[in-house]
Amino acid sequence: MALNSRKVAMVGCGFVGSASAFALMQSKLFSEMVLIDADQNRAEGEALDISHGMAFASPMKIYAGTYDDVSDAAIIVITAGANQKPEETRLDLIQKNAKIMRSIIGEIKKRDFEGILLIVSNPVDILTYIALKESGYPANRVIGSGTVLDTGRFRYELGEHLGVDSRSVHAYIIGEHGDSELAAWSDARVGGLKISDFCELRGHFNHEDSMTRIFDHVKNSAYEIISKKHATYYGIAMAVVRICSAIVRDEKSIMPVSSLMTGEYGLYDVVLSIPAVVDANGIETVVPIELSETELLALKKSADILKDILKDNV
Ligand code: NAD
Ligand code: LAC
Repeated sequence: MALNSRKVAMVGCGFVGSASAFALMQSKLFSEMVLIDADQNRAEGEALDISHGMAFASPMKIYAGTYDDVSDAAIIVITAGANQKPEETRLDLIQKNAKIMRSIIGEIKKRDFEGILLIVSNPVDILTYIALKESGYPANRVIGSGTVLDTGRFRYELGEHLGVDSRSVHAYIIGEHGDSELAAWSDARVGGLKISDFCELRGHFNHEDSMTRIFDHVKNSAYEIISKKHATYYGIAMAVVRICSAIVRDEKSIMPVSSLMTGEYGLYDVVLSIPAVVDANGIETVVPIELSETELLALKKSADILKDILKDNV
């Protein structure tokens, strides 16, 4: 079936799927959106509720459907699966969510789908690897939302600290979307200045303490939000819109989605986040940003943790 570049499918309509669907409706990127959930009532309810906002946005077709409706979608966003309970890590979700991911990819594979798979369910790097292997699709078409959200959190925190628009902060969180992620400080720039120079411009000289505090806050923010309101969903919904926009508009935007490593930093056969150029074909290329020795070691450690999980689950 010919691909409809204005059609998106959302598999999983819980907190993250429904918030993402709502944000996508407002983004005006698509003219058709199909919602799928194991709980058909949930998908139907969300489709109706979101459709009722259409009179205040732009016309589009939003409906609860089946896997027969995904064949011509440009993007399938997968948010189905269990979320973390307080004290659980993302990696703790692997048993439940690997099974769910395999069953969803099995259904998609039966259809003639030629678009991009965008995996959001956790642990996102492991599930993106599973989606890649189970689907047999080329690696450019299977993307994880990776550390796009964490990078958004990082830019927000740095913007607050420095009194500057977070869009003027160019700094990445890379590696696992999870506890072993790291901040690529050595590459961070604000308005073209090295981050330490911009800090000094703003009267901050205690670099080590600030870096530790800001990074810890970013890394632990999902735990904080989950302990306070049970789930995170608005931030990731905005990240989903941002990634879909890069694909639909063929933007060639650089963002730290998770993708298959094929030798970058000596890493092979593992999916994690490194900035990549994202366009209509998905991942065009990975951008191997410069890392310090300490950062490189932390990235390798993050990859080793993910590889250990893959060894036992794939
Ligand atoms: P939720 O429990 O609210 O929703 C999950 C939904 O998946 C439910 O509606 C459920 O019926 C559905 N589902 C379960 N099995 C299914 C199947 N086989 N087919 C179709 N639908 C199925 O959870 P949530 O808070 O929306 O979180 C969803 C996932 O997103 C979790 O794994 C969570 O950890 C992850 N997440 C990822 C990020 C990120 O940055 N990557 C951010 C937030 C949450
Ligand atoms: C996040 C989810 C839980 O908000 O992965 O980071």
